[in-house]
Amino acid sequence: MRRKIVAGNWKMNLDYTEGISLFSEIVNMVRDEKNGNQIAVICAPYIHLNSLVQLSAGVVKIGGQNCNQNESGAFTGEISAKMLKSVGCEYVIIGHSERRQYFAETDELLASKTVIALQNNLTPLFCIGETLTERNDGSYFKVLERQLDHGVFTLSAEDFSKIVLAYEPVWAIGTGLTASPEQAQEIHAFIRTKIENKYDINVANNTSILYGGSCNPKNAAELFAQKDIDGGLIGGASLKSRDFVDIVKTFNS
Ligand code: PGA
Repeated sequence: MRRKIVAGNWKMNLDYTEGISLFSEIVNMVRDEKNGNQIAVICAPYIHLNSLVQLSAGVVKIGGQNCNQNESGAFTGEISAKMLKSVGCEYVIIGHSERRQYFAETDELLASKTVIALQNNLTPLFCIGETLTERNDGSYFKVLERQLDHGVFTLSAEDFSKIVLAYEPVWAIGTGLTASPEQAQEIHAFIRTKIENKYDINVANNTSILYGGSCNPKNAAELFAQKDIDGGLIGGASLKSRDFVDIVKTFNS
């Protein structure tokens, strides 16, 4: 059985006080209202992480939004996977399109970040997705294939089984444009078939593949009802406790 996951990505939002206040609301609401096996995660800026773990009481899991590809050393301003683990993080987002776009992160670099995250017992939430140009010119299957081949298919089956994938069409991130459930399902099924071809059917069936891109409480149910969509990576809506928890509740039994 693959895990159902709703992960919030706060990006570079919320100062320390605002973060603590929002997170406290989220924890209380998830504790009171969640009644399924779904996992709620918040991926927050570094300065929040330690405190959020203390406040989480295990009700909400905590993740970083990035880590460096090296174990440690002279990399001013960077954060290692080991540091994330040491404050109690369980997840780390790797390969978000904003990292790929604004910080020139390549598939190969992301592959090394994934390896170091796994070595430190973090679950990578590995993102892939095509731009609007790539969607319109029809090259998107090739783009996704390349991101998978170079980013995560270099892993052994055992290591690959520990990661979570997120399909995030870049044209849907923060734009209010959501992939239709059919468009998203088409890609998620494509990804699962790729995993089966690379590894085997068991690995494919056990990999959680999240959808991300303008997911909100109104469209989550229809998206998550698709057979290959196992949850969401939520940006804007994770900055509002009610919206985020309503998305988490989509999986209530
Ligand atoms: P969004 O962001 O929900 O604001 O579109 C999703 C993401 O970037 O992970």
